[in-house]
Amino acid sequence: MITSVPHAGVNLATRSPLEYSGPLVEVDGLNLTLEVNGAKRQVLRDVSLTIERGEALALVGESGAGKSMTARTIAQLLPDRATATGTIRFDGHDLLGLRGESLRRVRSEMAVIFQDPRAYINPVRRIGDFLTEQLRTVGHVDRQQATQRAQQMLSEVGITDTARRMRQYPGDLSGGMLQRVMIAAALLGEPKLILADEPTTALDVTTQSEVMAILDELRHAAGVALLFITHDLDLAAAVCDRTTVMYAGQIVESQESVALHHDPRHPYTAALAAARPDLERPKSRLAAIPGHPIGAWEAADTCAFGPRCPFQQSSCTASGPVPLTIESSYAVRCLRADELGPRLRGDVE
Ligand SMILES: Nc1ncnc2c1ncn2[C@@H]1O[C@H](COP(=O)(O)OP(=O)(O)O)[C@@H](O)[C@H]1O
Ligand SMILES: [Mg+2]
Repeated sequence: MITSVPHAGVNLATRSPLEYSGPLVEVDGLNLTLEVNGAKRQVLRDVSLTIERGEALALVGESGAGKSMTARTIAQLLPDRATATGTIRFDGHDLLGLRGESLRRVRSEMAVIFQDPRAYINPVRRIGDFLTEQLRTVGHVDRQQATQRAQQMLSEVGITDTARRMRQYPGDLSGGMLQRVMIAAALLGEPKLILADEPTTALDVTTQSEVMAILDELRHAAGVALLFITHDLDLAAAVCDRTTVMYAGQIVESQESVALHHDPRHPYTAALAAARPDLERPKSRLAAIPGHPIGAWEAADTCAFGPRCPFQQSSCTASGPVPLTIESSYAVRCLRADELGPRLRGDVE
């Protein structure tokens, strides 16, 4: 078994995944440019992250921060004319360098769960056909066995009367039930990674926590890693070991989820935390973040959050691009992080 990252020149695409024991996902210096009405628009800038085997990583940030695009680049589900540079290694394979059958093979180790399952599931196909198709075509499992496994997985995600459910159509199921079906579909493929993009945002609150609990329990049981996208910091902490915060297409902070809550290093993380509804004082006013989020293409070359930051000073705008400083237990992209730490923690007024 190789325990270190193979040296450059080894053809990663042809090695057996069994040989690689590095992190499951290693994104390094990822930039993404999309084309909007013929014009190029950079939406991700220098994104680097790792996900260990079996680990859950949350990606949080306001709408437009680049969370979905990060997940879609990893899953290779990008719009036409998208250009990604940098590297993404999945289980040791250089994902951006793969094409055709080798890409398909590596990609089959990932499953994606979207916010709105109805947009991704064929409304005129029965739930049973949807669930068994992949097993039969990719896994070469016979119809009877595939049906059995699908029904078993449906009961694992908490769906009863599975034989009847298999004959139903997506339109016959509630949003929460359909999201359970999507989780079942994801797990049936025995992936190494599930990318879940706001999987419960469209559901009512009670259903949200039920669906989240199922995803959390089953992915733990199966040892599947999770990239969990949410705008809810508390949910991120409840479900994920580590949380990465994005702003304007960049990573601004990454830490263990619990530490991120009581010891944020970036003013944006602290602002996000202050903007959360306070469950103990539901009527208290939210500290809304002034201004509005921007895209990577609109951001200055200096700190992207600067114009909204209560701590911005002339030294921030006089600097060039702000690097992501990586320490042993956190990473932060703020020139004043060390000095601001106590204030962001609330130790000092
Ligand atoms: N298909 C697309 N074409 C062009 N721009 C897009 C497309 N999808 C998203 N974007 C832009 O990319 C940026 C990042 O979007 P996204 O990753 O969806 O943000 P998030 O998931 O954090 O809300 C946004 O500014 C958004 O407007
Ligand atoms: Mg999104």
